[in-house]
Amino acid sequence: MSAAVFAFCDGDEQARALAGNLGIAAHGIERRAFPDGESLVRIPPVPAVAETALLFRSLNDPNVKIVEILFAAAALRASGARRVMLVAPYLGYMRQDVAFHPGEAISQRVIGELIAEHFDGLVTVDPHLHRIAALDQVVPAIPVVAVSAAPALAAALARDMEPGTLLIGPDRESAPWVERIAARLNLDMIVAEKCRRGDRDVVLRLPEAARVDGRVAVIIDDIVSSGSTLIACATLLRASGAGRVEAAATHCLAGPADLERLYAAGVARLCTSDSVPGPVATIPLATVIGNAIRELGWLESIR
Ligand code: R5P
Repeated sequence: MSAAVFAFCDGDEQARALAGNLGIAAHGIERRAFPDGESLVRIPPVPAVAETALLFRSLNDPNVKIVEILFAAAALRASGARRVMLVAPYLGYMRQDVAFHPGEAISQRVIGELIAEHFDGLVTVDPHLHRIAALDQVVPAIPVVAVSAAPALAAALARDMEPGTLLIGPDRESAPWVERIAARLNLDMIVAEKCRRGDRDVVLRLPEAARVDGRVAVIIDDIVSSGSTLIACATLLRASGAGRVEAAATHCLAGPADLERLYAAGVARLCTSDSVPGPVATIPLATVIGNAIRELGWLESIR
């Protein structure tokens, strides 16, 4: 078996944790931007050729990163890798899965086909698939696995969960995560109705039968992007009498200003997986991703 993890500096810690879990080496990929914005990517000399290269990079802020992983995949093949697998804990561009308006590209499909063309396999975590049932419809013809962070989120929440805590899904799309976590922790759950009127303009309604008064409420979602969904949900829960409002999600893309807005709206605590490194990304995914890679047999020798 000769396999190694290769990572850019933005995911170095998570990539090393994954390599440690798999018992293989981790190597850093050098990158730099030229003054005109073009990228240079360099695979450093490694002690032994890795016939299986696991290229680790989360595709948040995706535009430059996507170009750079294509360069890295080509460089890895040129350095002797016989298969290059993409490990992208966060897979960007999955939300535009239809043309919402005439003239729009279905970016999910374009990115999925690009990945299928340049990689021999893909592992990701909780991709944002709304109207598409499975990831292999998006990334065709290569082995693809979408692991869920829900068990890891549940385990993290279980550490200091107050009895009687209520879990809230802010919209229909969050229901699978809320259901899984509520079942694991044996908690009550409700799912709100959401209407998005703009990027940062979200209106929510709780189910009429919801009893939140005085209870600890934990909002569960797959992605925190601008934070507007959590802000609207926390505001509503506070107005409905919730005692304390917390939140947990798989991915956090929100920057410092959006996190501040979210805390100001009454979210006492937010914890997310480390799919996108950041101040709230406290739940490591190395074990779930490592298990998926082992199950796929990617560490076995190529015949
Ligand atoms: C929507 O379908 C997702 O589940 C999230 O609720 C949404 O993407 C969060 O975005 P934002 O933080 O910008 O409201």
